[in-house]
Amino acid sequence: MSSARKILVTSALPYANGSIHLGHLLEYIQTDIWVRFQKQRGHQCSYVCADDAHGTAIMLRAEQEGITSQQLIDKVNEEHRADFDRFLVNFDNYYSTHSEENREFSELIYKRLRDAGHIATRSITQMFDPDKGLFLADRFIKGTCPKCKAEDQYGDNCEACGATYTPAELINPKSAISGATPVEKDSEHYFFKLQDFQEMLTEWTQSGTLHEQIANKLKEWLEAGLHEWDISRDAPYFGFEIPDAPGKYFYVWLDAPIGYMASFKNLCARRDDLEFDDYWNKDSDAELYHFIGKDIINFHALFWPAMLEGADFRKPTAVNAHGFLTVNGQKMSKSRGTFIKAQTFAEFLNPEYLRYYFAAKLTSRPEDLDLNFEDFTARVNSDLIGKVVNIASRCAGFVKKSGGKLSETCAEQAMLDDAVAIGHQIAEHYENRDFGRAIRLIMELADTANAYIAEKAPWSLAKEEGKEQEVLDICSVGINLFRQLITYLAPVLPVMSQQAATFLNIENLNWDAREQLLLGHEINKFKPLMTRVESDRIDAMIEASKEVLAEEQKLKEQPTGPLAEDPISDEIEFDDFAKLDLRVVTIIAADHVKGADKLIQLTLDLGGETRNVFAGIKSAYNPEDLVGRQTVMVANLKPRKMRFGLSEGMVMAAGPGGEDIFLLTPDKGAENGMRVK
Ligand code: MSP
Ligand code: ZN
Repeated sequence: MSSARKILVTSALPYANGSIHLGHLLEYIQTDIWVRFQKQRGHQCSYVCADDAHGTAIMLRAEQEGITSQQLIDKVNEEHRADFDRFLVNFDNYYSTHSEENREFSELIYKRLRDAGHIATRSITQMFDPDKGLFLADRFIKGTCPKCKAEDQYGDNCEACGATYTPAELINPKSAISGATPVEKDSEHYFFKLQDFQEMLTEWTQSGTLHEQIANKLKEWLEAGLHEWDISRDAPYFGFEIPDAPGKYFYVWLDAPIGYMASFKNLCARRDDLEFDDYWNKDSDAELYHFIGKDIINFHALFWPAMLEGADFRKPTAVNAHGFLTVNGQKMSKSRGTFIKAQTFAEFLNPEYLRYYFAAKLTSRPEDLDLNFEDFTARVNSDLIGKVVNIASRCAGFVKKSGGKLSETCAEQAMLDDAVAIGHQIAEHYENRDFGRAIRLIMELADTANAYIAEKAPWSLAKEEGKEQEVLDICSVGINLFRQLITYLAPVLPVMSQQAATFLNIENLNWDAREQLLLGHEINKFKPLMTRVESDRIDAMIEASKEVLAEEQKLKEQPTGPLAEDPISDEIEFDDFAKLDLRVVTIIAADHVKGADKLIQLTLDLGGETRNVFAGIKSAYNPEDLVGRQTVMVANLKPRKMRFGLSEGMVMAAGPGGEDIFLLTPDKGAENGMRVK
């Protein structure tokens, strides 16, 4: 075995103003599989990421929601972490670019670049929103296309005729933020002199750091000559102020990649075995990999290595770019319900299905990947359930029957030798990010194992007298092959493989441990490892995705803040209040209501008495999750006859609706039937 490598891996930092969706997950799952593989091989591998928290879009989004930028990025950070947990993306550190570490590194790198003469300043003219007091990026200006006269086009290009132009050329331009007519205004900007690094970049981009296709594309760029890069933005801006330049802020893309360093620095602070300098010094022997989408190559393969070089840090070992996710052959679409959020997927389907499907289709090439739901269902069901899990479920029972211990010797040594040996090729494919090829080999091995079991048919032998040992030998071969498969699938299916390890009664799934066959080894009771993909769950998920996005659209159109949406009602007398009889109850049953999308039928226990209530909270809750929960009901509301039955009261919840419904819960100790006053 080769000696342990030191590897630092990153995925691109998701913007802190939106949810994680399946497109993002392609990247985080790809990276996570690669990292888990490296760890399984015994390397010191760290995986860091963070939210990309700066910029105008985040500032405006916070304003729209009526909260501060800090509140927005904190809220989103929590959501993102929860989504990554759901999909088993196991960062060693997940941080934020709005951190002290990042401020320090951004200042340090900037100062080193400036002191080495790589920063220039000059005044530029830009569009300015006089109402908002804000310079406007092209996408924040809309107007009529000067060429084809299509209305409502962005400031840089026309979606109707494809013309490109400057915002000043638009007819009747308007600020997309305030609607004001923008004016031209001058201001001093700071530039990074990318052209100083022309030679280094020409060399570096062609030295095996990038996929050939990307290297070729960049070559064209480099040959056309590099230009200065504008790295400053004027206040107001959510970001870091530039040292010695009051009112000027680093452009979000300047400090975003530095966020990789900052997240790692933050990790080092709590890990004795990691030294920041070992990984980032110019002479570092550690490996550094960035996984990104093909849309952000320039930032990672031109600006970033130049910044690192200019500031005297090491450059990446490689930048691994993947293509874009399409769903059912098309761009993800909100109206078709194929713009699917991570959370929505996880509510309906096992996240490991998606991990497996992506793995089966990923290559090292920066090409797009299609998630076709028919193919997805067929693939997961036939490979994972039909092939892999099947081996264990066919063999486990016979082993249990004969005492739970595998045979002392291996009846098919050659077959197991092959299964161990193929691990070298599988490892090579994982290493090269050719996950699809790795999966193909793994499934071929599963086919071999299934063919062997089918041919030996232990279930027939088991009916014959005196064949117990033979049956056990066959099933022990089956279980040992299953163990090889699970070892190989562990980077992709962390939960299922952990459950399989428990069944196999083995401590870990280290890559090399597979060489030691399980002989005379006691195994545990077999429990089903994974259930089939049900296509009606997929349909339900697509429907839910449409609803989630429709709700969001509604929220966007509303004025900001919960109070503004729902002003306080007119004053009432105390007697009016006293008429309300509010009671603590426990939800003892919760069921779907046939024919009603929004309703859940609740059975409430008021302490002796039960009530039937139909509550419109299905967009926010699964009935299963409500059972056993306490809440508060209006107990003296006149019963109402509904299409589905009689509703005898109401439960109390806060929030605008949709996903955002929050059922009230009394503090611990409250008893059913207690009056709320
Ligand atoms: N904040 C920047 C990255 C800064 S890295 C220093 C950004 N954020 S993003 O949220 O828009 O995208 C994060 C990653 O997800 C990017 O690598 C992007 O390519 C990837 N993807 C976003 N949508 C995607 C698909 N539909 N398909 C595949 N990857 C996608 O860019
Ligand atoms: Zn046009």
